Amino acid sequence: MKREEIQKGLVCLTRGNFGKPDLNRVEVEGGFLMVKDVQRRNFFLRWTLGVWLIQKEWKIYSRLKGMRGIPQPVERIDRFAFAMEFIPGRPLLRGEALPPSFFSELEKALNDLHARGVVHLDLRHKGNILISERGELFLIDFNSSFGFKEKGILRRYLFPLLRWVDYGGLLKLKERISPDLMTPEERSSLKQFNRIRKLWIFN
Ligand SMILES: Nc1ncnc2c1ncn2[C@@H]1O[C@H](COP(=O)(O)OP(=O)(O)O)[C@@H](O)[C@H]1O
Ligand SMILES: [Mg+2]
Repeated sequence: MKREEIQKGLVCLTRGNFGKPDLNRVEVEGGFLMVKDVQRRNFFLRWTLGVWLIQKEWKIYSRLKGMRGIPQPVERIDRFAFAMEFIPGRPLLRGEALPPSFFSELEKALNDLHARGVVHLDLRHKGNILISERGELFLIDFNSSFGFKEKGILRRYLFPLLRWVDYGGLLKLKERISPDLMTPEERSSLKQFNRIRKLWIFN
């Protein structure tokens, strides 16, 4: 797919600021694609942060290809943009009534992600979880993510720590959205997590 082809039937759903990408819904034969694109950022940001973010996120989506609960990667358009499956649906809302199964599904998606050596690191934001029209859960936004090689010192020592950060993010989200569903164990884990997070540099 060429850049000229995505201009037709394009609707910008979110305009990125600073170096962040725009999110464009693009109409194609047989449906829609979501295109994440930094082309409209200024020259400097596009060629630095922009190119880096797109490359990094595309690599992670590609690594997660075939996994349930992730929009499927479709194509790298050029160095500034990539296309993925468009998920018709909506982001999570604060205080919305969710079945308890929602969080076990989220945990399952997170486990699958971790099984592929990827950590998400931005789960606390409701906007990074979509609920499709069919009620399925999707994890999106791998801008803050890391993918670890199978072997190596980082996988061995840093990966377990970051997996734990992801679980903390999940609990934080649960506390915000469905506090009534939290078990006493989860509450005490979250408390512990928050205590330790105060020492964390990426707050
Ligand atoms: N594949 C997708 N299908 C449908 N909507 C999406 C998709 N990817 C992103 N979005 C929408 O765009 C918003 C921002 O996307 P996200 O990947 O989180 O970008 P950012 O890096 O700017 O936070 C999401 O909250 C969601 O509403
Ligand atoms: Mg986001």
